[in-house]
Amino acid sequence: MEKTNQLERTEKLVVCVTGASGFVASWLINLLLSSGYSVHATVRTDPCDSKYEHLKQLDKASEKLKLFKAYLLDYDSVAAAIKGCIGVFHVASPVPSASVSDPEASALSRFSYNLVQLMEPAVKGTLNVLKASSEEKVKRVVYVSSVAAVLMNPDWQTDQVKDENCWSDIEFCKRTNNWYCASKTEAENEAFEYSKRSGLNVVSVCPTLVLGPMMQSNANASSLVLIKLLKEGYESTENKLRMIVDVRDLTAALLMVFEKPEAEGRYICSSHQIRVKELVDKLTSIYPHYNYPKTLIEVADGDSVSSEKLQKLGWSYRPLEETLVDSVESYKKLGLLGWRYSIGM
Ligand SMILES: NC(=O)c1ccc[n+]([C@@H]2O[C@H](COP(=O)([O-])OP(=O)(O)OC[C@H]3O[C@@H](n4cnc5c(N)ncnc54)[C@H](OP(=O)(O)O)[C@@H]3O)[C@@H](O)[C@H]2O)c1
Repeated sequence: MEKTNQLERTEKLVVCVTGASGFVASWLINLLLSSGYSVHATVRTDPCDSKYEHLKQLDKASEKLKLFKAYLLDYDSVAAAIKGCIGVFHVASPVPSASVSDPEASALSRFSYNLVQLMEPAVKGTLNVLKASSEEKVKRVVYVSSVAAVLMNPDWQTDQVKDENCWSDIEFCKRTNNWYCASKTEAENEAFEYSKRSGLNVVSVCPTLVLGPMMQSNANASSLVLIKLLKEGYESTENKLRMIVDVRDLTAALLMVFEKPEAEGRYICSSHQIRVKELVDKLTSIYPHYNYPKTLIEVADGDSVSSEKLQKLGWSYRPLEETLVDSVESYKKLGLLGWRYSIGM
């Protein structure tokens, strides 16, 4: 850590990570432990649950990792995890796989579902984390946002690359039933508003689709995008532009914005832009025998974002091929691609 970010190496470097069981948080905890930090990590069920075994197996976990059972909507449980920390990485948030709406449910119950399942934990949960961080006088909170909080802006000029100045329009997200986008936008916005009011130092990172090897055993939403592309054998799928970042590069960015004193505001975190067809071609050249989509439907050009601000801070990323191969190999090991694909591919 550069001069341990002038957060002084002499201090006891304890940080809190919320949502420890998840894809991104697991890799972040791994990086923090290997960088010398002690970690208070929040989980939602009994810390003895086998779901957290991969965390307990990490190098230095036995001395430096402590799991706290905490609910984002229960302030006291969040505050207990943040107590004694100099920094907080707020990673936890509901991440639905596709649409969270039950198509059979009435519009009203879909609305309530979205509010309770997505908006409340994301927005009120974030405010609880920020309040507890202020009480503890932590030096910085890193909020993991998403490009979902950047892209949904119908007023942005179409020929302009979307950068950190572009915010999703919350009302537009809700009107178009993009509740995940609404939840991330409102939570990130509230985080910066809270920072202005309280003086708490908040920095956010907005990643695109996060891929890479999985440490946890249940596939998260973004890994499922690649898993399904490999094994579903769709009759057709859209030839969309995908913006991808490796989970290990993302966690390096999270640590970098925490440690660099000059980091401020939001940072878009994206490495590669690639059409689905090109992605399938790349995968096929390495793994020819998976059940790829049969037809690709051409669609209009999608959004494009820039990570220039993060790169200026010193961030760099690995080649896409490395991310793809490491992802596929991890899915194979976890048995997520089915028995037909588990041998020799
Ligand atoms: N993966 C991506 O492509 C991507 C892209 C952009 C941004 N992000 C952001 O990155 C963060 C981590 O995502 P991920 O991909 O690692 O997702 P993930 O694997 O699904 O992890 C989400 C974590 O949040 C916790 N969580 C979910 N709902 C919660 C609730 N109501 N209260 C408390 N905790 C809750 C989960 O706990 P349980 O295990 O108990 O459910 C889990 O630990 C999220 O904030 C997400 O918005 C991800």
